[in-house]
Amino acid sequence: MLFLPLLVWYISLVLGIAQSSSYKSAIKQRQAPDEPQQLPGEQRLNDADQAWLDNIKAEVDLFPHAVEGDDTLTVDPLQGPPFRRMEGVFPQTLISGECTAEQESIIKRAWDDAKLFTEAQNGKWKKDYDYDKTHKFWLGDDWNATTHPEAGVRERAVIVNRKIKLVGRLFKEAHLHHNQWFLWRCNNARRLNWECSDVRNAGTWAEQSERTQNIMEMTTFCESFFKLETIGGQVAQHKDDADKLAKIGYFEQSTAKTLLHEVWHYNILGWPPIADLAYGMYNCRKLAIVNGTKRAFINSDSYTFDAINIYLDNLIDYHDDDPKDSDYHPESNSDSDVDMN
Ligand SMILES: *[C@@H]1O[C@H](CO)[C@@H](O)[C@H](O)[C@H]1NC(C)=O
Ligand SMILES: *[C@@H]1O[C@H](CO)[C@@H](O)[C@H](O)[C@H]1NC(C)=O
Repeated sequence: MLFLPLLVWYISLVLGIAQSSSYKSAIKQRQAPDEPQQLPGEQRLNDADQAWLDNIKAEVDLFPHAVEGDDTLTVDPLQGPPFRRMEGVFPQTLISGECTAEQESIIKRAWDDAKLFTEAQNGKWKKDYDYDKTHKFWLGDDWNATTHPEAGVRERAVIVNRKIKLVGRLFKEAHLHHNQWFLWRCNNARRLNWECSDVRNAGTWAEQSERTQNIMEMTTFCESFFKLETIGGQVAQHKDDADKLAKIGYFEQSTAKTLLHEVWHYNILGWPPIADLAYGMYNCRKLAIVNGTKRAFINSDSYTFDAINIYLDNLIDYHDDDPKDSDYHPESNSDSDVDMN
């Protein structure tokens, strides 16, 4: 789940494909590929939202600044308990005082696993792996049509290639601008109009201070996130069952999957913003087949499942690496757009 609010004018809510209208990113637009526009909806602020925004604005402008008397803690611009530094993840990541040590270690583990996914997606492991085939499966046939005669097709392919590299680099060796911050919360989003629920694993927003230009990319991890299995746990669980191991549908949900899904929404990966046009393997596959790269190139789960697919293909020595629709176990073929992430 992604929200990309702009401090200045409005909060834009991305609600899958339910809303469509014009969209402004906090990040300056580069040359536009054609038709990426069925993206985030725009929601005018009502008076209560506006008042809330005005209220936090002063603190956002100051962020990040230390809590008086303790410079290891940072004030929460949204009135929560102070944040502390989180080590071993992206630089300039702060975690809310609302998160327990156990929750922090679950997030850290998810980050480590998500890093492995992005390494696999960036070709770190098996050199002879057929990346083209898996990328086509999740991101559509035109994912690498960088020399296509049509500008829009070509541009989208350039964007897919660039984004995959960028997400890999972000995990590997992020050199962040001093204005770039990641804020991670647990259970409480401290936002109007959004709270954790049984069907929500996480939500992500970005805000930029007009005055300091600090960009805060904020992710809330919900209670249901902390109950998810780890990818390692799933692999271990299925290790004696070749049939399950070979079906990626058994690896649709994990802590690392949710974390990586949220990271794909971060503004730091550049324009265009990655939205939620389809959730879940079944719907992403449908997106790749029916709508192709034209839509899949801006869909978070499409990139995420692509990475997980490559990771598993590299990890498990399948006889047959070709992704197939029969790789989904039927239970995962939910057609509903449940907002799981
Ligand atoms: C993508 O296309 C370029 C040439 O346009 C090619 O060199 C490269 O191998 C392709 N990548 C994959 C993974 O097929
Ligand atoms: C994908 O294409 C189908 C059929 O044209 C259309 O109904 C659907 O809205 C498209 N999905 C997206 C996310 O654009």
